[in-house]
Amino acid sequence: MLLDTMKSSTIFHVLLLLVLCAFTTCGAQSPVHHLEFVQTWPNTFCQSTPCVAPIPHNFTIHGLWPAAIDGHSLENCKTKYKKSTTPYQGIRGDMDKYWPALNAGKTNENFWWHEWTKHGCCQNEFQPHDYYKKAIKLKYDISPLKILEDAKILPGSSKTYTVNAISQAFENVLGIGNKIWLTCHEKNGHFLLMEVYVCFDPKATSPVSCTWKVKRWTCGTGDILFP
Ligand SMILES: *[C@@H]1O[C@H](CO)[C@@H](O)[C@H](O)[C@H]1NC(C)=O
Repeated sequence: MLLDTMKSSTIFHVLLLLVLCAFTTCGAQSPVHHLEFVQTWPNTFCQSTPCVAPIPHNFTIHGLWPAAIDGHSLENCKTKYKKSTTPYQGIRGDMDKYWPALNAGKTNENFWWHEWTKHGCCQNEFQPHDYYKKAIKLKYDISPLKILEDAKILPGSSKTYTVNAISQAFENVLGIGNKIWLTCHEKNGHFLLMEVYVCFDPKATSPVSCTWKVKRWTCGTGDILFP
């Protein structure tokens, strides 16, 4: 009897979930465990890809990416939204400034829309406008250049820095134990700091540790350059 009740209640919940999924933008393969706020260091990125001049001398936003508990990115979900400029209303100036496409031949709008269709639509907290607005808000809160400079980790020289020193600089600001993730571009046997991932809970209210079980480390085994 109890078992029967449990069984039918489970079936009921599975059905409920299916119905909910059909009517929302539910498409995420696994639950969103955290959001990765990814910022790019243009001086490195533009050594790997042709960029439009002038290259910003500050970190720019790459995206705000939902990830599963093992760190794999939740990507390419269904979206009910159509490409339009509506989501950028009121934040267009900040978006152009802090979230430029960098790549030659790619418009900002195409880049932002790509970020929504590849990543943004796999989270369920924010619709497009709020999603972009949240990323801009995080950009105001987290300035990697300032965090690194405060830790005497300065760009533009041939000095190398340990991954530990870089991580530590962020932990001091985000709270001890909130680990970041880095990517690098390899050039002539050197590893150049390219992107910094700071992770947040699914509502993007507080920092959490990035998880990296399935991520590929691209920064080598030694110290890295910050060009
Ligand atoms: C870099 O951008 C941040 C905002 O994200 C700003 O606070 C900081 O002053 C900028 N630094 C430089 C050197 O432009």
